[in-house]
Formats: sequence, C-alpha cells, structure tokens
Amino acid sequence: MENKTEFALHFEAKGSGTPLLLIHGFPLSSRMWAGQMEALSSQAQVLAPDLPGFGDSPLSDTVYTVERYAEDCAAVLDALDLLEPVAVGGLSMGGYIALAFARLFPERVGALLLLSTRAGADSAESKANRDKAITGVKEHGASAVTEAMLPKLLAPANYAGQPAMAAEARELMRTASPDGIVAALSAMRDRPDATGQLGNLGVPTLIVHGKDDQLIPSSEAEAMAAAIRGSQLHLIAQAGHLPNLEQPEEFNHILSKFLTEIS
Ligand code: MLT
Repeated sequence: MENKTEFALHFEAKGSGTPLLLIHGFPLSSRMWAGQMEALSSQAQVLAPDLPGFGDSPLSDTVYTVERYAEDCAAVLDALDLLEPVAVGGLSMGGYIALAFARLFPERVGALLLLSTRAGADSAESKANRDKAITGVKEHGASAVTEAMLPKLLAPANYAGQPAMAAEARELMRTASPDGIVAALSAMRDRPDATGQLGNLGVPTLIVHGKDDQLIPSSEAEAMAAAIRGSQLHLIAQAGHLPNLEQPEEFNHILSKFLTEIS
C-alpha cells in the first residue's frame, strides 16, 4: 500500500497486527526498511515514512527540528486513524526522532525501538562538523555528505567481504536531496539532550546496535540500556551502523520476538 498526499509524508505500509512505525536514518529513506517490511508484516502493520527531502517526501520551507519530524510522523498515524499507542522505532537520526516523538506524544507510544542511536546531544566538535557538512553540501551537492558517509555505514569487514551490500548502502542514499540533507544536519545539530528522558519512558524498550558501528559506538547503546529500566539490549556481531541490512536474519528475529512480547 502506498500513500501520497501533497502536504503529508510519503510512507510505505505493509502487513497487519501491532502497528510499528519505523523511522529511517540519515541520509537514507523508507527503502532501508524493505527487509523488515517483508519479514515483520505477518505480525505487524509496518509503517515506514520518508522524512521530508528524502525518498518521495517533499521538503517544505519550514525550519526542521527533530520535534517537527516527529510531528510529521504523528501525522502519518493520524492519516491511518491510528490513535492508540503504537510501537515507535528509529535508526540513528530516526532514533533521535523517536525520542522526540516520545517527548511530544507519550500517550501514543506503546513501545520504543532505539536502533543504532544515542540519547545525547551533539558535542561542540560534532556541531562544528555538521556546519562543515552543510557548507560542503551547499557548495558541492549531496555527494559531499553521501560519499563521506559511505565508508562508515557498514562494519569494516562487510566492505571487504560484501561488495553488493556496500552498493546497496550507496543506492539507499541516492534519493537524498541537498536541501533535505541540510535540513536534517541542522535538526541533528540542534537536537536536545534526551538523556534525562530515559529514566521516565515507562514503555517496553528494545535497543539494538551493531558491535562494529563506526558512526555511533555501541557504548552509547549500553549507556541507554543502563538508564532505561527493563530495556532489552542486543549487540549484533559483524554489523556496523545498518544492522538491519548487515545481519538481517538476526535483526529481524530480535524485532519479531520483541513484537510478540509486546502484543
Ligand atoms: C544517521 O545515521 O542517522 C546519522 O549518522 C546520525 C548522526 O549523524 O548523528
């Protein structure tokens, strides 16, 4: 099923059962979840939006923040009349947005999936790197960011042994528009520290992280697990920043088991 309206996010939807919102990472799109839509749709209604300026969603002239992206994701649930709590998951930037969603709409979150992400805000150095990346994209286009990210998305061993996977990662970044990238970089740079929120989430929380993540170290996942009471932590071997792509069977099994537990 597909949906496209002029002012709303484009999203992919498949399956029925527990509603599961999956928010993609930067600078990717809903297509990164293709394997999960296939594997989980027998037990969940999987919903995967394209954030503005990525995939098939247009960018408006709003100033984007992680909260604004969360509001756009809530509008996807509204469009489907999903007013009861749902499972909200996000990978990396998608995780920052999932945490913003939980801040803004706690009554709409039945469970949380924090995938390859962190709770903290950007350091001063990371903020300066975001600004450099924004300048690079304005001067040279999207490839200034996508080519720099490509060698860091997967575990080093997967670049060596799985060239098709690296090609797929590059393909997933193809729809990112320069303006969408700039908006997302600013939103990530300015996101608040969500660490204080972790003790009060009050919903089943699943944390999954690649052991060889080159972009966000797995110690960030361990820190979140220590702060979120009753959370489940899974560290996946031979996986980098995209464990859903790098170790799909193990990743899907973990999510499937979690969905069974919460439904
Ligand atoms: C992502 O994968 O969404 C980004 O790398 C996250 C970030 O840059 O902080």
